[in-house]
Amino acid sequence: MKKIIYFILICLFLSGCTSQPLSKNDKLKLIVASDLHYFLKDYYQDCEWFEESMLYGDGKMVTYADEILDVFISDIKKEKPDLVILTGDLSFNGEKGSHQGLANRLKEITDAGINVAVIPGNHDVDNIFAKGYGKDDYMDVEKTNADDFLSIYHDMGYNLAIERHSESLSYRLDLNQQFSLLMMDSTAHQLTGQELDVGGFFTDSTMKWLGEQLENIKSQNKTPLMALHHNLTDHNDLLNKNYTIKDHQKIADLLQSYQVPFVLSGHIHCQNIKKINDIYDIASSSLLDAPLQYGIIELDTQGMSYQTQSLKISKDADEYFEQVTKNRFIERLESITDQNTKESVLDVIARANRYYFAGTISEHKDEIMKMPGYAIINKEDKLKFSQEYLASMLIEEVTSQKLSIKFS
Ligand SMILES: [Fe+2]
Repeated sequence: MKKIIYFILICLFLSGCTSQPLSKNDKLKLIVASDLHYFLKDYYQDCEWFEESMLYGDGKMVTYADEILDVFISDIKKEKPDLVILTGDLSFNGEKGSHQGLANRLKEITDAGINVAVIPGNHDVDNIFAKGYGKDDYMDVEKTNADDFLSIYHDMGYNLAIERHSESLSYRLDLNQQFSLLMMDSTAHQLTGQELDVGGFFTDSTMKWLGEQLENIKSQNKTPLMALHHNLTDHNDLLNKNYTIKDHQKIADLLQSYQVPFVLSGHIHCQNIKKINDIYDIASSSLLDAPLQYGIIELDTQGMSYQTQSLKISKDADEYFEQVTKNRFIERLESITDQNTKESVLDVIARANRYYFAGTISEHKDEIMKMPGYAIINKEDKLKFSQEYLASMLIEEVTSQKLSIKFS
C-alpha cells in the first residue's frame, strides 16, 4: 500500500498528472487573454529612453503592465471563472525574471482558488533577443528554456494536466464531463532547447500526440477544444506571414474530423475571429493593446457565447494606441509635403487601425470613410500601401468582440 501511495505522489510531483476534470458543473465560464508580454521593471527602470521607445513600438503598453494586471486580476476575482487561459507571449522577450514576475502576479489568481493555464508563445522560450535596458547600454539577462518554463508555470496549467506531451510544452485539461481543452505548444521547440522562430508549427511528434488525444477524447464522448499561440487561419490578407501556423489546413482538417467547434489563439495582437472549415479561430488581442481586452466564454452542451471585456487604467489606452500608430506610420508618408494632408492621412490610419485591433472596425466603416484622410489616401497613387492596408481592414463584416455558437 505504501508503495502505491509513493508512486501516486511521485506521479503528481513529476508530471502534475491528475484524473479529475476541473469542474463538476455542466456550465463553464472561461476567461481568455493573450500576449501579456510582461517585462520585469528591474530590466528597464534605469533606462531613460525605454518608455519613450515604446511610443514607437507596436502599441503594447509595456510600462503599464502592472496596472493593467491589477485591474485584470480584480475582474477575474469578481467573475470567478472555472479557468483563465493565457495563449502565449507571456513575457516581453523570454527573460527569466519577467516569467517569474508574471507567475508571481498570476499566483494572486490561483491563491484565490481560480485555475490558470498558460502555453508559450514565440517570445517566451530560448529567445535570442532577451535583454535588459540599462542606464547606458543593454544588459544581459537570463533567458528561459523549456525546463525553466515548466518549472515557473508548474502551478499554472501543468499541475492540472490530465495528459502531457513529453517532447513539447503541450498538455490536456479535462474541463468537465463534456469538454477537454488541448493546450498546444506551437512554438515547436524540442525540450532539449532550440532557438525559436516567429512562425509556428507542430512537430511530427506534436501532431502525433494531438491525433492521439483527439481520438481518446472522442472515445470518451467528449468535445475537444484547442488553445495555441499561432493562428489556425489567416486573419488579414496582407499580414499573415509567420502568424498562421504552418500546415494550417491539414491541422484544421484534423480538428474538423473531431468536430472541434472553436480554437483560441493570439499572436497577431489584434482581436479577430475567422472561420476555417466549421471551426472558429478566436484570436485574442494583446491584453496590453487598446482597448486592453480579454474574452469571457460561457460554455455548455448547447453552445458557447463569447464576449470581450475591456479594462480601464489611469492612462487613455485609445489615445496611446493611436499615437503609436501615427509615430510608426509617418515614415511611410515622406512623399506628402503638405502638413495638413499628412495629418489627415495619419488620423484616418490611426483611427482605423485602433478599431481594427479592437475588433470593431465593421461598426465604424461610415466614420472612417467620412474622414478627410480616407479620400486623400484613395486618390493618391503614392499611398498604395495605405490604400491596401485600409482596404484589408475595412473588409471586416462583423464584430470580433462577440460570438455565439450553437452546437448541433
Ligand atoms: Fe506577441
